Amino acid sequence: MLVAIGSDHAGFEMKQDILNLLKELGHECVDFGTDTPQSVDYPDFGEKVSSAVSCGKVERGILICGTGIGMSIVANKFPNVRAALCNELFSARMSRMHNDANILVVGGRIIGRDLAKAIVHTWLTTPFESGRHLSRLRKISIIEQKVLKNKSEKTCS
Ligand code: RB5
Repeated sequence: MLVAIGSDHAGFEMKQDILNLLKELGHECVDFGTDTPQSVDYPDFGEKVSSAVSCGKVERGILICGTGIGMSIVANKFPNVRAALCNELFSARMSRMHNDANILVVGGRIIGRDLAKAIVHTWLTTPFESGRHLSRLRKISIIEQKVLKNKSEKTCS
């Protein structure tokens, strides 16, 4: 699988661990940084990974910041992105089975490296269940299109 990954400084060390795991598992990775533990702004890195997923340049994305919250907010601004903040295994599994999540977000300051790696492994290997969940995802796409159309016609008053 082609996987894009990105973090801010709070997720930098965890990103390196996850990159190693992805390579061990045989995935191809695009690392969008950050490349040092120096303080940076998470939206800059969230945007790069989310844009790559949104445009179909990569199949999946993984984002890490301190809590995972900021990166989730950024990622879910992008069309076609279904980003899931998962700091435990059950959510990681369900985000794939029910939501077909295409971006995984974890909190580098919330969970340890072993749990993070287990979450990534589960998330990459769990298939989407489709069926009734597909029609729910279609409803999300319809909402997304309605919101985009409204934005181009008028701004909120
Ligand atoms: C950085 O200090 C922190 O705010 C960021 O990593 C993230 O947790 C934001 O949601």
